[in-house]
Amino acid sequence: MKTSMIVFGVLCAVGVSVTIYAKEHDATMGNMSHHQMMQDTNVDGRISLQLTPQMKQHQLANMRSHVVAVQSIIGMLAENKFDEASAVAHNQLGLTPEMRKMCNMMGNEDFTKMGLAFHQSADVLGDTLKTGDMRLSLKALHRTMNACVQCHATFRQ
Ligand code: HEC
Repeated sequence: MKTSMIVFGVLCAVGVSVTIYAKEHDATMGNMSHHQMMQDTNVDGRISLQLTPQMKQHQLANMRSHVVAVQSIIGMLAENKFDEASAVAHNQLGLTPEMRKMCNMMGNEDFTKMGLAFHQSADVLGDTLKTGDMRLSLKALHRTMNACVQCHATFRQ
C-alpha cells in the first residue's frame, strides 16, 4: 500500500514537471509545433540549430573570434585605449553586413533575432567606449556579454 502510494506520488510529480516543461517551451517556442520542438530540443533543454557540419565549423570559428574581440577590448580598457577598443567593438562584434548575413542564415528566427540584438548591443558598446567613460563602458560590455550568455543558454549547434 505504502509503496504504491509513493510510486503514484512520483509519477504525479514527473507528470507535473513534464507539463510545466512543455508549457514553458511552448511559450518560448511560439508558433513551432510540439513535434518540431521535441525534435529540436536536447536533454539539456537547449534548442538545436541542426547545422550542417560545414556551418558548424564556420559558426564556431566565428564564436572564437568573438572571444578574442572581448579579450582585446578588456586589455585596451585596462590601458585606457578607448578609441581602439571602440573600433574593435564596431568592427569585430558590431552589426556588419557579414554578421547580418550570418545571423540570417541560421535557419531559426529566434536565433536570428538574438544574434542581431547582440550585434546591435556591440555597436552601442562601441559608441559608449568612444565617450571614454570607464564605468559606462564596463556596463555596456556587461550588457553585450549578457547577450552571449543568453544565447548560449537557449541554443546549441
Ligand atoms: C545568437 C546566439 C549567440 C550569441 C549572441 C553568441 N553565441 Fe557563442 N555560441 C552560440 C552557439 C549556438 C554555440 C554552440 C554551442 C553548442 O553547440 O553547445 C556557441 C559557441 C561558442 C563558443 C565555443 C566555440 C568552440 O570552438 O567550441 C564560444 C567560445 C562562444 N560561443 C563565445 C561567444 C561570445 C564571447 C559571445 C559574445 C561576445 C557569443 N559567443 C555570442 C551562439 C551564440
